[in-house]
Amino acid sequence: MTAQPSWVPDGIDTSKANPARVYDYWLGGSHNFRSDQDLARAIIAVEPNVRNVARANRAFLDRAVRFMSQAGVRQFIDLGSGIPTERNVHEVAQEAAAGTRVVYVDIDEVAVAHSRLLLEGNPDAAIVHADVRDPAKILGDPATQLLIDFDQPVGLLLASVLPFLSDGEDPWRVVAEFRDAMAAGGFVALSHGTQEAKPEVGQALEKVYNTRVAIQATFRPREEILRFFDGFSLVDPGLVYTPLWRPGPDDEVSGDPCDFWLLCGVGKKR
Ligand SMILES: C[S@@+](CC[C@H](N)C(=O)[O-])C[C@H]1O[C@@H](n2cnc3c(N)ncnc32)[C@H](O)[C@@H]1O
Repeated sequence: MTAQPSWVPDGIDTSKANPARVYDYWLGGSHNFRSDQDLARAIIAVEPNVRNVARANRAFLDRAVRFMSQAGVRQFIDLGSGIPTERNVHEVAQEAAAGTRVVYVDIDEVAVAHSRLLLEGNPDAAIVHADVRDPAKILGDPATQLLIDFDQPVGLLLASVLPFLSDGEDPWRVVAEFRDAMAAGGFVALSHGTQEAKPEVGQALEKVYNTRVAIQATFRPREEILRFFDGFSLVDPGLVYTPLWRPGPDDEVSGDPCDFWLLCGVGKKR
């Protein structure tokens, strides 16, 4: 029997693919197992652009964090933060403004274990192992209480995590509970898979993914994604495909934006 790498927490089932680790594989990370790699490659066979979609999603998150930082936000809650393969929110935010505080939240043990290692010695960032469907637990967690002042604007990040909540779990209520805890002037940034761009790709992806992954994913139409912004005013350019959200001078926007089938936007709390 091969020994597990040292970063693998005890007792996790590596035989079933997991969204955090499949996504890590697409981003070129190494915190994934055979089951994750097999599924990630099966999806690449269906949608060869999926790695670019994942990278464009990270790039949107990066730009959204810098936008919020420029607007004065000095504290972030990153829900479904994932395995920090590339530049992380705390690196981007603390580079933009030293001392910015970040609370990461994820349900996946590997993501949490890896984040814990990475954040060791950083007094301004922490990881909470929790389910986004339980806002009260996350808001009341000692790390959140220590790092986040809810009287000041918060940047709430929900990049590609809401698809993992089914309609029956009412993800709109979940977002509203976080929104209600936030002071006016805070922001939400979110991205979400949609079938509207390429219906045939969306359907095939959902099918392949959901038969093999531990947590099911749901793509949503634009109107349902817009509802997550209730109580927020969308900033320009509104809800758009990821490469189109305020690209910088060095960001190449070429090809058909619909090839990047994640809609994204940033809203300011009213
Ligand atoms: C596709 S990854 C996105 C990671 C990161 N937000 C990004 O956009 O680069 C989705 C992440 O959401 C996490 N996740 C899924 N369901 C969750 C839940 N109910 N509570 C907390 N995290 C969840 C997964 O473990 C995974 O790390």
